[in-house]
Amino acid sequence: MPELDQPQRQPTDALMLTGFWYRALPADRVHRNQLHKATLLEIPLVIGRDRAGQPFALRDACPHRGMPLNCGHFDGENLECSYHGWQFDVHNGQCQLIPSLTPDQHLKIDRIYAGSYPCEEQDGFIWTYIPDPSPQGAGFTEPQEAPEPAPVIEKFGAPGKEKYKLAYLTADMPVSIDHGIIGLMDPAHGPFVHQAWWWRSRHSIHEKKKNFEPIPYGFRMSAHTPSSNSAPYKLLRLYADADSFTTTIDFTLPNLRREVIRAGKYWFSSLTTVTPITRNQCRIDVVAAWNLFRWFPFGAELLKFVFGKFVEQDRRTMELQAEGLKHNPHLMLIDDADRPAKWYFQLKAAYLEAKRTGAEFRHPLTGPVTLKWKS
Ligand code: FES
Ligand SMILES: [Fe+2]
Repeated sequence: MPELDQPQRQPTDALMLTGFWYRALPADRVHRNQLHKATLLEIPLVIGRDRAGQPFALRDACPHRGMPLNCGHFDGENLECSYHGWQFDVHNGQCQLIPSLTPDQHLKIDRIYAGSYPCEEQDGFIWTYIPDPSPQGAGFTEPQEAPEPAPVIEKFGAPGKEKYKLAYLTADMPVSIDHGIIGLMDPAHGPFVHQAWWWRSRHSIHEKKKNFEPIPYGFRMSAHTPSSNSAPYKLLRLYADADSFTTTIDFTLPNLRREVIRAGKYWFSSLTTVTPITRNQCRIDVVAAWNLFRWFPFGAELLKFVFGKFVEQDRRTMELQAEGLKHNPHLMLIDDADRPAKWYFQLKAAYLEAKRTGAEFRHPLTGPVTLKWKS
C-alpha cells in the first residue's frame, strides 16, 4: 500500500504482551526474608528473596481461597498463607503443608501449586518472566520455564572483568504501555518537553536524517556521530579524545530500548524499559552502566540528576496527556517523526499474529530506511 500523505489514525489497544521478561522491582528494594507487592500486566505478585538472597515471584493469591500471600508469614524458604496456614515453596510454588489434614487424609498436596514465575536479578533489577496465560488448572500448574535468560545491559571490556558503574531511575506514568513506549521513541517532543540551558533550547531545532534497520523483533537506529547541538556530547568527545564516536539505539519488543555510546575505550550503555502495570499505568525504568568518569565521585549522582530531569519531564507530560486521554481520542501518527511509533504497533501486531497462527514472525521492516524530521 502506498504511504499516504494523510496523517494516519491509529487506535491504541493497550494490549500487554506475554511471553517476555519484565522488570518487577529495583533489586535494592527487595530484602531477604521480606515480602514485597508488585503488579505486572495486571497480575498481582509477591516478590521476595530467600535466605540465600535468591529472588522469587509468586502470584499474590493463595490457590486455596485467594488470600493475598503477601500477608503471610515467610521463614526464608516457605511462605505460609495467613488464612489457613498452607505452606508453599517460594521458588516453584509447590504446596508443602496443609495443616488441617489429619494423618489418614491422603490429599496429594505436592500436586497443588501457588502461581510461580521465573525470577532473575540482573543489572540492579528483579526481573520476572510472564508466560502466556496457561489454559486452565490454576492451583495445579507447575511453573513454566523462561525460554531465555532475562535481558542484560551490554558491557564492554575483558569478559568478566569489565569495570563500570551502574545506576537506575524509575518513574510511574499514568498512561497505557503503548503511550509510554511511543513517548519514549518519539523524537519530536525533545525540543518542547526537554528544554534546559545545559542541554538545548527549542531554537536549536534543525533537520535530522537517521538510518534505521530491522533487527529481530525490533529496529535499530544505526551507529552515527550524535548530533552536535547538545553540550554533553561535545564534552564527551573532548573527554574521550576519540575520533570514532558512535551511538546505536535499539528498540525491541516488548519494551526494551538499548542505547550504546562508544568513544575509544569509553562506553556508556543503557537499557530503558516501559513496563505495563495495569491497562492505564506503566513504569519507566532507566538503568545505565558506564566506564566514563568512573573515578569521578559524583558520577552516579550526576547521571541521576540529568536523567532524572528528563524522566521527570516525560512523566509530567504524560500525566497531562492522561487528562486528554480520558476522553478516549484516537492517535494520529505522521511521517516521518512518528514512523518508529508506527513500527512499534506493526511489530506488536506481527508478534500477536505469529502467535495466533503459529506462522513465522513477519517483520514490518524489510530493509534499511532513512527517516527525516526536525527536532
Ligand atoms: S486461603 Fe490460603 S490457606 Fe486458605
Ligand atoms: Fe522524553
